[in-house]
Amino acid sequence: GKVAVLLGGTSAEREVSLMSGNAVLAALQAAGVDAHGFDPAQQDLHILKEQGFDRAFIALHGRGGEDGTVQGLLELLKIPYTGSGVMASALAMDKWRTKMVWAACGLPTPRYAILAADTDWDAVVAELGLPIFVKPVHEGSSMGATKVTAAGQLKAAWELAARFDDLVLAEEFVAGAELTVPFLGERALPVIRIEAPGGKYDYQNKYFTDETRYLCPSGLPAEQEQALQALVMKSARVLGCRGWGRADLMLTADGRPYLLEMNTSPGMTGHSLVPMAAKAVGLDFTALCLAILEDARL
Ligand code: DAL
Ligand code: MG
Repeated sequence: GKVAVLLGGTSAEREVSLMSGNAVLAALQAAGVDAHGFDPAQQDLHILKEQGFDRAFIALHGRGGEDGTVQGLLELLKIPYTGSGVMASALAMDKWRTKMVWAACGLPTPRYAILAADTDWDAVVAELGLPIFVKPVHEGSSMGATKVTAAGQLKAAWELAARFDDLVLAEEFVAGAELTVPFLGERALPVIRIEAPGGKYDYQNKYFTDETRYLCPSGLPAEQEQALQALVMKSARVLGCRGWGRADLMLTADGRPYLLEMNTSPGMTGHSLVPMAAKAVGLDFTALCLAILEDARL
């Protein structure tokens, strides 16, 4: 049947989603799937049903796509879709409540505070130490995020993040290796270690430079790699994720992992991480897209 690849959308990550979605669309079409791109910013998703689509591949990122809203509409239209359901999508889009769930389950995640206009900035610095990461609670791709290295920068970092979101998170900076671990179905894919120029894995260094280094295999001892994969599967299970996703972590020099966030509709661009990890286990981009699509459900 007909497959709608949902791409674009209205979030701050629209451009990233267009890259992801067009890559997925081309791969599915090349594999003989009757796939069509569909941008919810331009067309009303309700017409998917009358146009005869019987599955949706969600390649939207951020709010209005990765956050449970589109998933809910597809549920009501009874069109099976890829990835997590309504609850897990909404929860994982919220970095703050995700951390609360992880912490309640005993999973390691950096200490944090929620910032607001009446925040005592010095108290936050005293509590979390420096540097501090400030980020909008519901954004991706480092949109609106700042690494604060001096107490005097905290308020400006909050102001920037608050332009993206009415909830802003301050997170203790965990020094160490930056890792990401995708999962496909019940299986964790290999760990990827990210080495961005100057340790700055921001929007530019995520999608546009060729200087960011990605190590997969990660070079970690096999036991540690397996422990990280088990941690990520547990972190996904407690959020209720399904299908596929990708958790981002830090790993301290003495081997302690910290979960940062869960992405339920991860990037599928030429620079993205899930395709890289899939390739390491012999799944090329097309096979990866087909595997994700095969798992589409209500
Ligand atoms: N939020 C981007 C798309 C990612 O995590 O890959
Ligand atoms: Mg994210």
